[in-house]
Amino acid sequence: MKYSSKRITVRPYVRRDYESWREGHLAREPKKNKFDSLKPPAKNLTLKKFTAMIGKNKKRAKRDECYVYGIFDKKTGKHLGSTSLYILIRKGLHWANLGYEIHNQYWRQGFGKEAALLTLKIGFRDLGLHRIEAAMELDHKGSIGVARSLGMRREGIRRKFFPNPSGWEDLVVFGAVKEDF
Ligand SMILES: CC(C)(COP(=O)(O)OP(=O)(O)OC[C@H]1O[C@@H](n2cnc3c(N)ncnc32)[C@H](O)[C@@H]1OP(=O)(O)O)[C@@H](O)C(=O)NCCC(=O)NCCS
Repeated sequence: MKYSSKRITVRPYVRRDYESWREGHLAREPKKNKFDSLKPPAKNLTLKKFTAMIGKNKKRAKRDECYVYGIFDKKTGKHLGSTSLYILIRKGLHWANLGYEIHNQYWRQGFGKEAALLTLKIGFRDLGLHRIEAAMELDHKGSIGVARSLGMRREGIRRKFFPNPSGWEDLVVFGAVKEDF
C-alpha cells in the first residue's frame, strides 16, 4: 500500500529504506525550534535499530493500534520524514490522531502538507477511519499551519489533554471527517 502525489510517496517502511532513513536523519540541521526533534547521534541510526522499528510498526499495525509511514521524495528516494495514524477509538467511532514530522532541512517546502494529505487519504480509504484529528500546542504555528492548509477544521481547545514534564497541557484540536475527503 502506498499513496503518491507529484513529488512524494507515503508508505510503510521496508528494510531497503535503511540508507535513505539514516541519511535523512544525519543531514538534519541543528534544532530549529522547541517543537523540533534533536538530530539523533549516528550510533542510534543502526540497521539493527531500524529493523526493530519496522518490526514494532508491523506489530502495532496488526493490532490496529498505530500506523507509521515514511515520506520519500519520488525522484531521489530521499527520506523526508514520517507520518502516523494513531487509533484513538476503533469500535463504532473509527477515530484516529494524525501525526507528522519533516526533517528540518526540508521545512517550508510544502512537504508536511502533501504528506499529511496523503496520510488522511490512507486513513479514510484504506483504514476505514471516519474521523481524524490533529492536536498540537496552542503556539505550534507549523503544525497548525499544516492542519489549516489541509482544510481541517479548528474544533476548539482540549483542556489538560497531553502530559509533559511540567504537567498536563492544553492542546488545540483540528478535525477532518471522511465526507470532507
Ligand atoms: C510542523 C511541520 C511538520 C511542518 O512541515 P513543513 O513541511 O515545513 O510544512 P509545509 O511547508 O507543508 O507548510 C504547510 C503550511 O504551514 C505553514 N507553516 C509551516 N511551518 C510554519 C511555521 N513555522 N510558522 C508559520 N506557518 C508555518 C506554511 O506556510 C503552510 O501554509 P500555506 O499552505 O498556507 O502556505 C514541521 O515543522 C515539523 O516537522 N516540525 C517538528 C515536528 C512537529 O512539531 N510535528 C507536529 C507535531 S503536533
